[in-house]
Amino acid sequence: MNDYNAPSNLLNDKVILITGAGDGIGAQAAKTFAAHGATCILLGRTVAKLEAVYDDIVAAKGAEPAIVPLDLKGATPSHYQQMTQTIIDQFGRLDGVLHNASILGHLSAFKDIDAQEWQDVMQINLNGMVYMTQALLPALLKAENASVIFTTSSVGRKGRAFWGTYAVSKFATEGVMQTLADEYQNKSIRFNCINPGATRTSMRAQAFPAETPETLKTPEDIMPTYLYLMGNDSADVNGESLDCQPK
Ligand SMILES: NC(=O)c1ccc[n+]([C@@H]2O[C@H](COP(=O)([O-])OP(=O)(O)OC[C@H]3O[C@@H](n4cnc5c(N)ncnc54)[C@H](OP(=O)(O)O)[C@@H]3O)[C@@H](O)[C@H]2O)c1
Repeated sequence: MNDYNAPSNLLNDKVILITGAGDGIGAQAAKTFAAHGATCILLGRTVAKLEAVYDDIVAAKGAEPAIVPLDLKGATPSHYQQMTQTIIDQFGRLDGVLHNASILGHLSAFKDIDAQEWQDVMQINLNGMVYMTQALLPALLKAENASVIFTTSSVGRKGRAFWGTYAVSKFATEGVMQTLADEYQNKSIRFNCINPGATRTSMRAQAFPAETPETLKTPEDIMPTYLYLMGNDSADVNGESLDCQPK
C-alpha cells in the first residue's frame, strides 16, 4: 500500500488523534491527514512544535486542529481518561489514532541497559500507549469505522544486538496490536501496525549519526501507507503489520 493514491476527501469529517505530532513522521502525518479532510488532535510534549504544525495546517486551509500538550513520561491513566472525556464533549467520537510518539533511548549492550532508561522507554513507547488506548476505546467505539495505528519497527519483529530496550518496546507494540485486533474483530474498530522503515528524522539521525540523510525517504514519501490505514479503504484490514518501504 506504499503506492496508495488517496482521494483528497479521504478523511473528510474524521477526527484523528496523532501522538508525537510536533516533529518527524507525526508532524507530517498530521499535516497529511488534515490535507485529506481530517480534524486533527495534535498530542506532544513540546508546545512550540505543536503550534508550528497547527499554523501549517491552518495556513493550508485545513480544519482547525486541537492541541493536547502531554508528556507521555509523566501521564497517568486519569490524564488519558480526562482527555477522552474532552474529546467526546468536543467532537462526540474519535475516528482514528496514530500512536507515533516514541523515544529511541541509548543503544547499548543488553548487559549494560540502565534500569531507569528501561523504565523511561517502556513508559513512553509502551505504557503510555496502552493506557491511552484503554481510555480512548469508548470514544473510538462511538465512530462508525475507527482505525487505530500503532508504530512498529523492523527491530520489533526481529531482535538486533544493542537495540534491546527500543526493540523490546516495539515487539510489545506488535503484541498490543495483535491482542486488540483479535478482541475486537468484526467490530467497528480495527488495529494495525505500521513500520515506516528508514526515514529522515531526528530519531533516525540519533540511531545512525554517520548516515547521509539525503539517501533516506522523507516522512512525506511514506504517507501513502498512513493514509491507506487511516481511511475507509482499509476497513477490512485488521491485525496486520504493514511496511511503508517493503524490501
Ligand atoms: N525514523 C525512522 O527511521 C523510524 C523507523 C522505524 C520506526 N520509527 C518510529 O516512527 C515513529 C516516529 O519516529 P520519528 O522518526 O518521527 O521520531 P522523532 O522525529 O524523534 O519524533 C518523535 C515524536 O515523538 C514525540 N515524543 C517523544 N517522547 C515523547 C513524550 N514523552 N511525550 C510526548 N511525545 C513524545 C517527540 O516530541 P518532541 O518533538 O517534543 O521531542 C516527537 O514529536 C516512532 O514510533 C519511531 O519509533 C521511525
